[in-house]
Amino acid sequence: MAKVIAGMGTSHVPGLGAAMDNGKTQETYWRQLFEGLQPLRAWHRTNVPDVNIIVYNDHATEFSLDSYSTFTIGVGETFKPADEGWGPRQVPNMSGYPNLAWHIIESAMAEEFDLAVNASMDLDHGFTVPLSIAYGQPKEWPTSVIPVCVNVIQHPLPTALRCYKLGQAIGRAVASFPEQINIGIWGTGGLSHQLGGERVGVVNPDFDKKFLDNLSRDPLANTRISHTEFMREAGCEGVEMIMWNVMRGALEDDVDEVFRLYHIPVSATAYGAIILENK
Ligand code: DHB
Ligand code: FE
Repeated sequence: MAKVIAGMGTSHVPGLGAAMDNGKTQETYWRQLFEGLQPLRAWHRTNVPDVNIIVYNDHATEFSLDSYSTFTIGVGETFKPADEGWGPRQVPNMSGYPNLAWHIIESAMAEEFDLAVNASMDLDHGFTVPLSIAYGQPKEWPTSVIPVCVNVIQHPLPTALRCYKLGQAIGRAVASFPEQINIGIWGTGGLSHQLGGERVGVVNPDFDKKFLDNLSRDPLANTRISHTEFMREAGCEGVEMIMWNVMRGALEDDVDEVFRLYHIPVSATAYGAIILENK
C-alpha cells in the first residue's frame, strides 16, 4: 500500500520564486532566508517521495470568482505553470499521478467528501513557488504531483476543521491505494500577511509561532481557529494557513518535527516553513 512519509508547510510568497528565477538569492535582502532554507533543501534531497500531494490555493489565476469550488483536485497527466500576468514562470511542467488522484476522489466521496475534478488546471505561485523552495531549479521535478486547490478567496471558505478532516480523508485514501509508493503532503500559504487595505503589511509572530507549535504537538488546537480570528490575528490573507491543516490531517497524530524556519519580512509577509515526519 502507499504510505505518507512526511508533510511540509511553507509560505508561497511569489517574490521567492522571482528571486530564484532572476538569480537574486545571494542579494542582501534574500541571502539570510535562502541560507535558512538550506537544511530544508538537504532534507528534500534525501527524502524524495514518488508523489507529492500539494495543497495550495489559486489566486484567481486559473479559477475566476464566477466559479470557485471549495476543494478541487487535479487529475491531469501534466500541469503547466500559470501565466499570472507577466508570462508563466520558466519552471518545468509538473507530472500528475492520475491513478492516485482518482483513488483519492473515490475514497473521499465514499466518506461524503466531494471534490471537484479538474484535468487541466494551470498552477500559479501558490503551487510552483513551494516546488522551487524544495527542489531549486532542476530540469525536471524529481516527483510527480497531485494538486489540491482550496478556496481561501471567495467567501464562504471551508473551516479550519473541515480542512483537517479533508487531510484525514486523504491520509486514509493513500493508506488504501494498492501501490507501494511513498507520498509527501504539503500545505502552502501564510503565514500572517495582508496584501491590501488599512492593515496591509500586518504580521503577528506570536500567532504564527503558536500555530507552528500546535502543528507539531497539538494539531487539533489549529482546527478551532475561526476565519475571523485568522484574519484579525494574521491579516486577511493569513487565512491561507487553513491549508496547512489539510497537510497535518494526513499525517499521524504523533510526528517528529525535523525542520522549522520563521523569517520576517519576505515581501510584506512572515515566511514560515516546517517539516513533520511520520514516526
Ligand atoms: C504574496 C502573495 C501571496 O499569495 C502570498 O501568499 C504571500 C505574499 C505577495 O504578493 O507578496
Ligand atoms: Fe497566497
